[in-house]
Amino acid sequence: MANATLSINDREYSFPVLVGTESEVGIDIGMLRKSTGAITLDPGYGNTGSCTSAITFIDGEKGILRYRGYPIEELAAKASFVEVMYLLVYGVLPTKEQLADFGYRLTQHTLLHEDMKKFYEGFPPSAQPMSVLSTMVASLSTYYSNTEEDTDLNIVRLLAKLKTIAAFSYKKSIGQPFIYPRNDLEFVEDFLHMMFAVPSEPYEVPSAIHEALDMLLILHADHEQNCSTSTVRMVGSSGADLYSAISSGVSALSGPLHGGANMAVIQMLEAIRLDGANYAKYVAKAKDKKDPFRLMGFGHRVYKNFDPRARLIKQACDRVLMQLNRTDPLLDIAKELEQVALKDDYFISRGLYPNLDFYSGIVYRAMGLPTSMFTVLFALGRLPGWIAHWKEMRDTGGRLHRPRQLYTGELIRAYAPAD
Ligand code: SDX
Repeated sequence: MANATLSINDREYSFPVLVGTESEVGIDIGMLRKSTGAITLDPGYGNTGSCTSAITFIDGEKGILRYRGYPIEELAAKASFVEVMYLLVYGVLPTKEQLADFGYRLTQHTLLHEDMKKFYEGFPPSAQPMSVLSTMVASLSTYYSNTEEDTDLNIVRLLAKLKTIAAFSYKKSIGQPFIYPRNDLEFVEDFLHMMFAVPSEPYEVPSAIHEALDMLLILHADHEQNCSTSTVRMVGSSGADLYSAISSGVSALSGPLHGGANMAVIQMLEAIRLDGANYAKYVAKAKDKKDPFRLMGFGHRVYKNFDPRARLIKQACDRVLMQLNRTDPLLDIAKELEQVALKDDYFISRGLYPNLDFYSGIVYRAMGLPTSMFTVLFALGRLPGWIAHWKEMRDTGGRLHRPRQLYTGELIRAYAPAD
């Protein structure tokens, strides 16, 4: 493709144009500052590519999401979360032998060092589970070496241990004893067992919940350069170890504009329910620029049509509630709210549609999972994606991330001591 030409102060500059495998076009401005003295400015990076990547492809206009070329709809319907972990991290779907070996390796690293259990004693019961998760992940780097040859071992350790850390934080928050991992259980089944079993009686994970959570974790597993994944790449670009980089991704995900939205959606739906299901009032608030209220679970930086994951999760809502013979008034409110919003030009003209957080909380509620753990579940799903990007950045020799800025502060001035 021809070069891109930029004209500044009557001078023309030419920059190479790169084309991705899905025909996306990127202008390589790597030499912009050196040749023109100028930088670009793109707050929020909505128009800026930070890297090339072979992991995930999203087409926001067409509602396309593929992990390593496989459509999310096919993976959600046919694959297991452990298979998708392998696919994202190693780039290919595992053979039966590779899957068996990978699954076995995961079972060998699910335990935390017994001394790490003491960390939980220091957290108050009301501690935010995402803060606990970020802290515990960062502290793994105090136990394990991060030499180059340990990279794959540390990847497997983290994939195996995050569900233990998450389940222990839940047990801590409800004052129950920790339930240890069991190697005879499937990966997701083992997590649910650690979450809901109690020492006093046997607990069998309902298959409907096991299958639903496995699919939800697949739907959350990666999403190219989103806020938390970009954070992992940013921190990893300094050479910081895997655990430190992932811990920063957990922190970025916790925000209500990002992964924290799944909790905020439930709080919003509860407020609407308590307010007499007055949808019109909340849609009006969301449209009112003077009102900070936003329709949580709506809108997306990339999807300006529909989020394919939201469609699959909405279907899971109905399926899981039916299988468990449960109803949830919040699902009815969510569906009504979606109908009201999507008839309103404010949302249509801005391409604001339900994103994956809009319905995910309702499925988690149906499974009996506490709202406080919803974003932790998002992190559990997103972990293989974060790791895949951290690994890709290191394998491709990613440069230290160090954006520039446009200074708008004071001009030079002399110091004068206070009189
Ligand atoms: C995730 O990037 C990813 O891939 C993220 C994610 C992943 O898998 O990693 O998909 C997961 O984070 C999903 C998003 C979860 N967040 C929420 O549901 C919070 C509510 N949504 C918004 O805050 C918002 O839509 C964002 C943050 C998601 C996206 O915001 P953008 O791209 O910065 O868009 P914007 O704020 O510039 O909005 C454009 C317009 C604005 O109005 P105008 O200035 O044009 O008049 O749309 C309005 C916004 O005010 N708008 C909303 C709205 N979202 C955008 N108005 C009301 N309610 C909303 N939810």
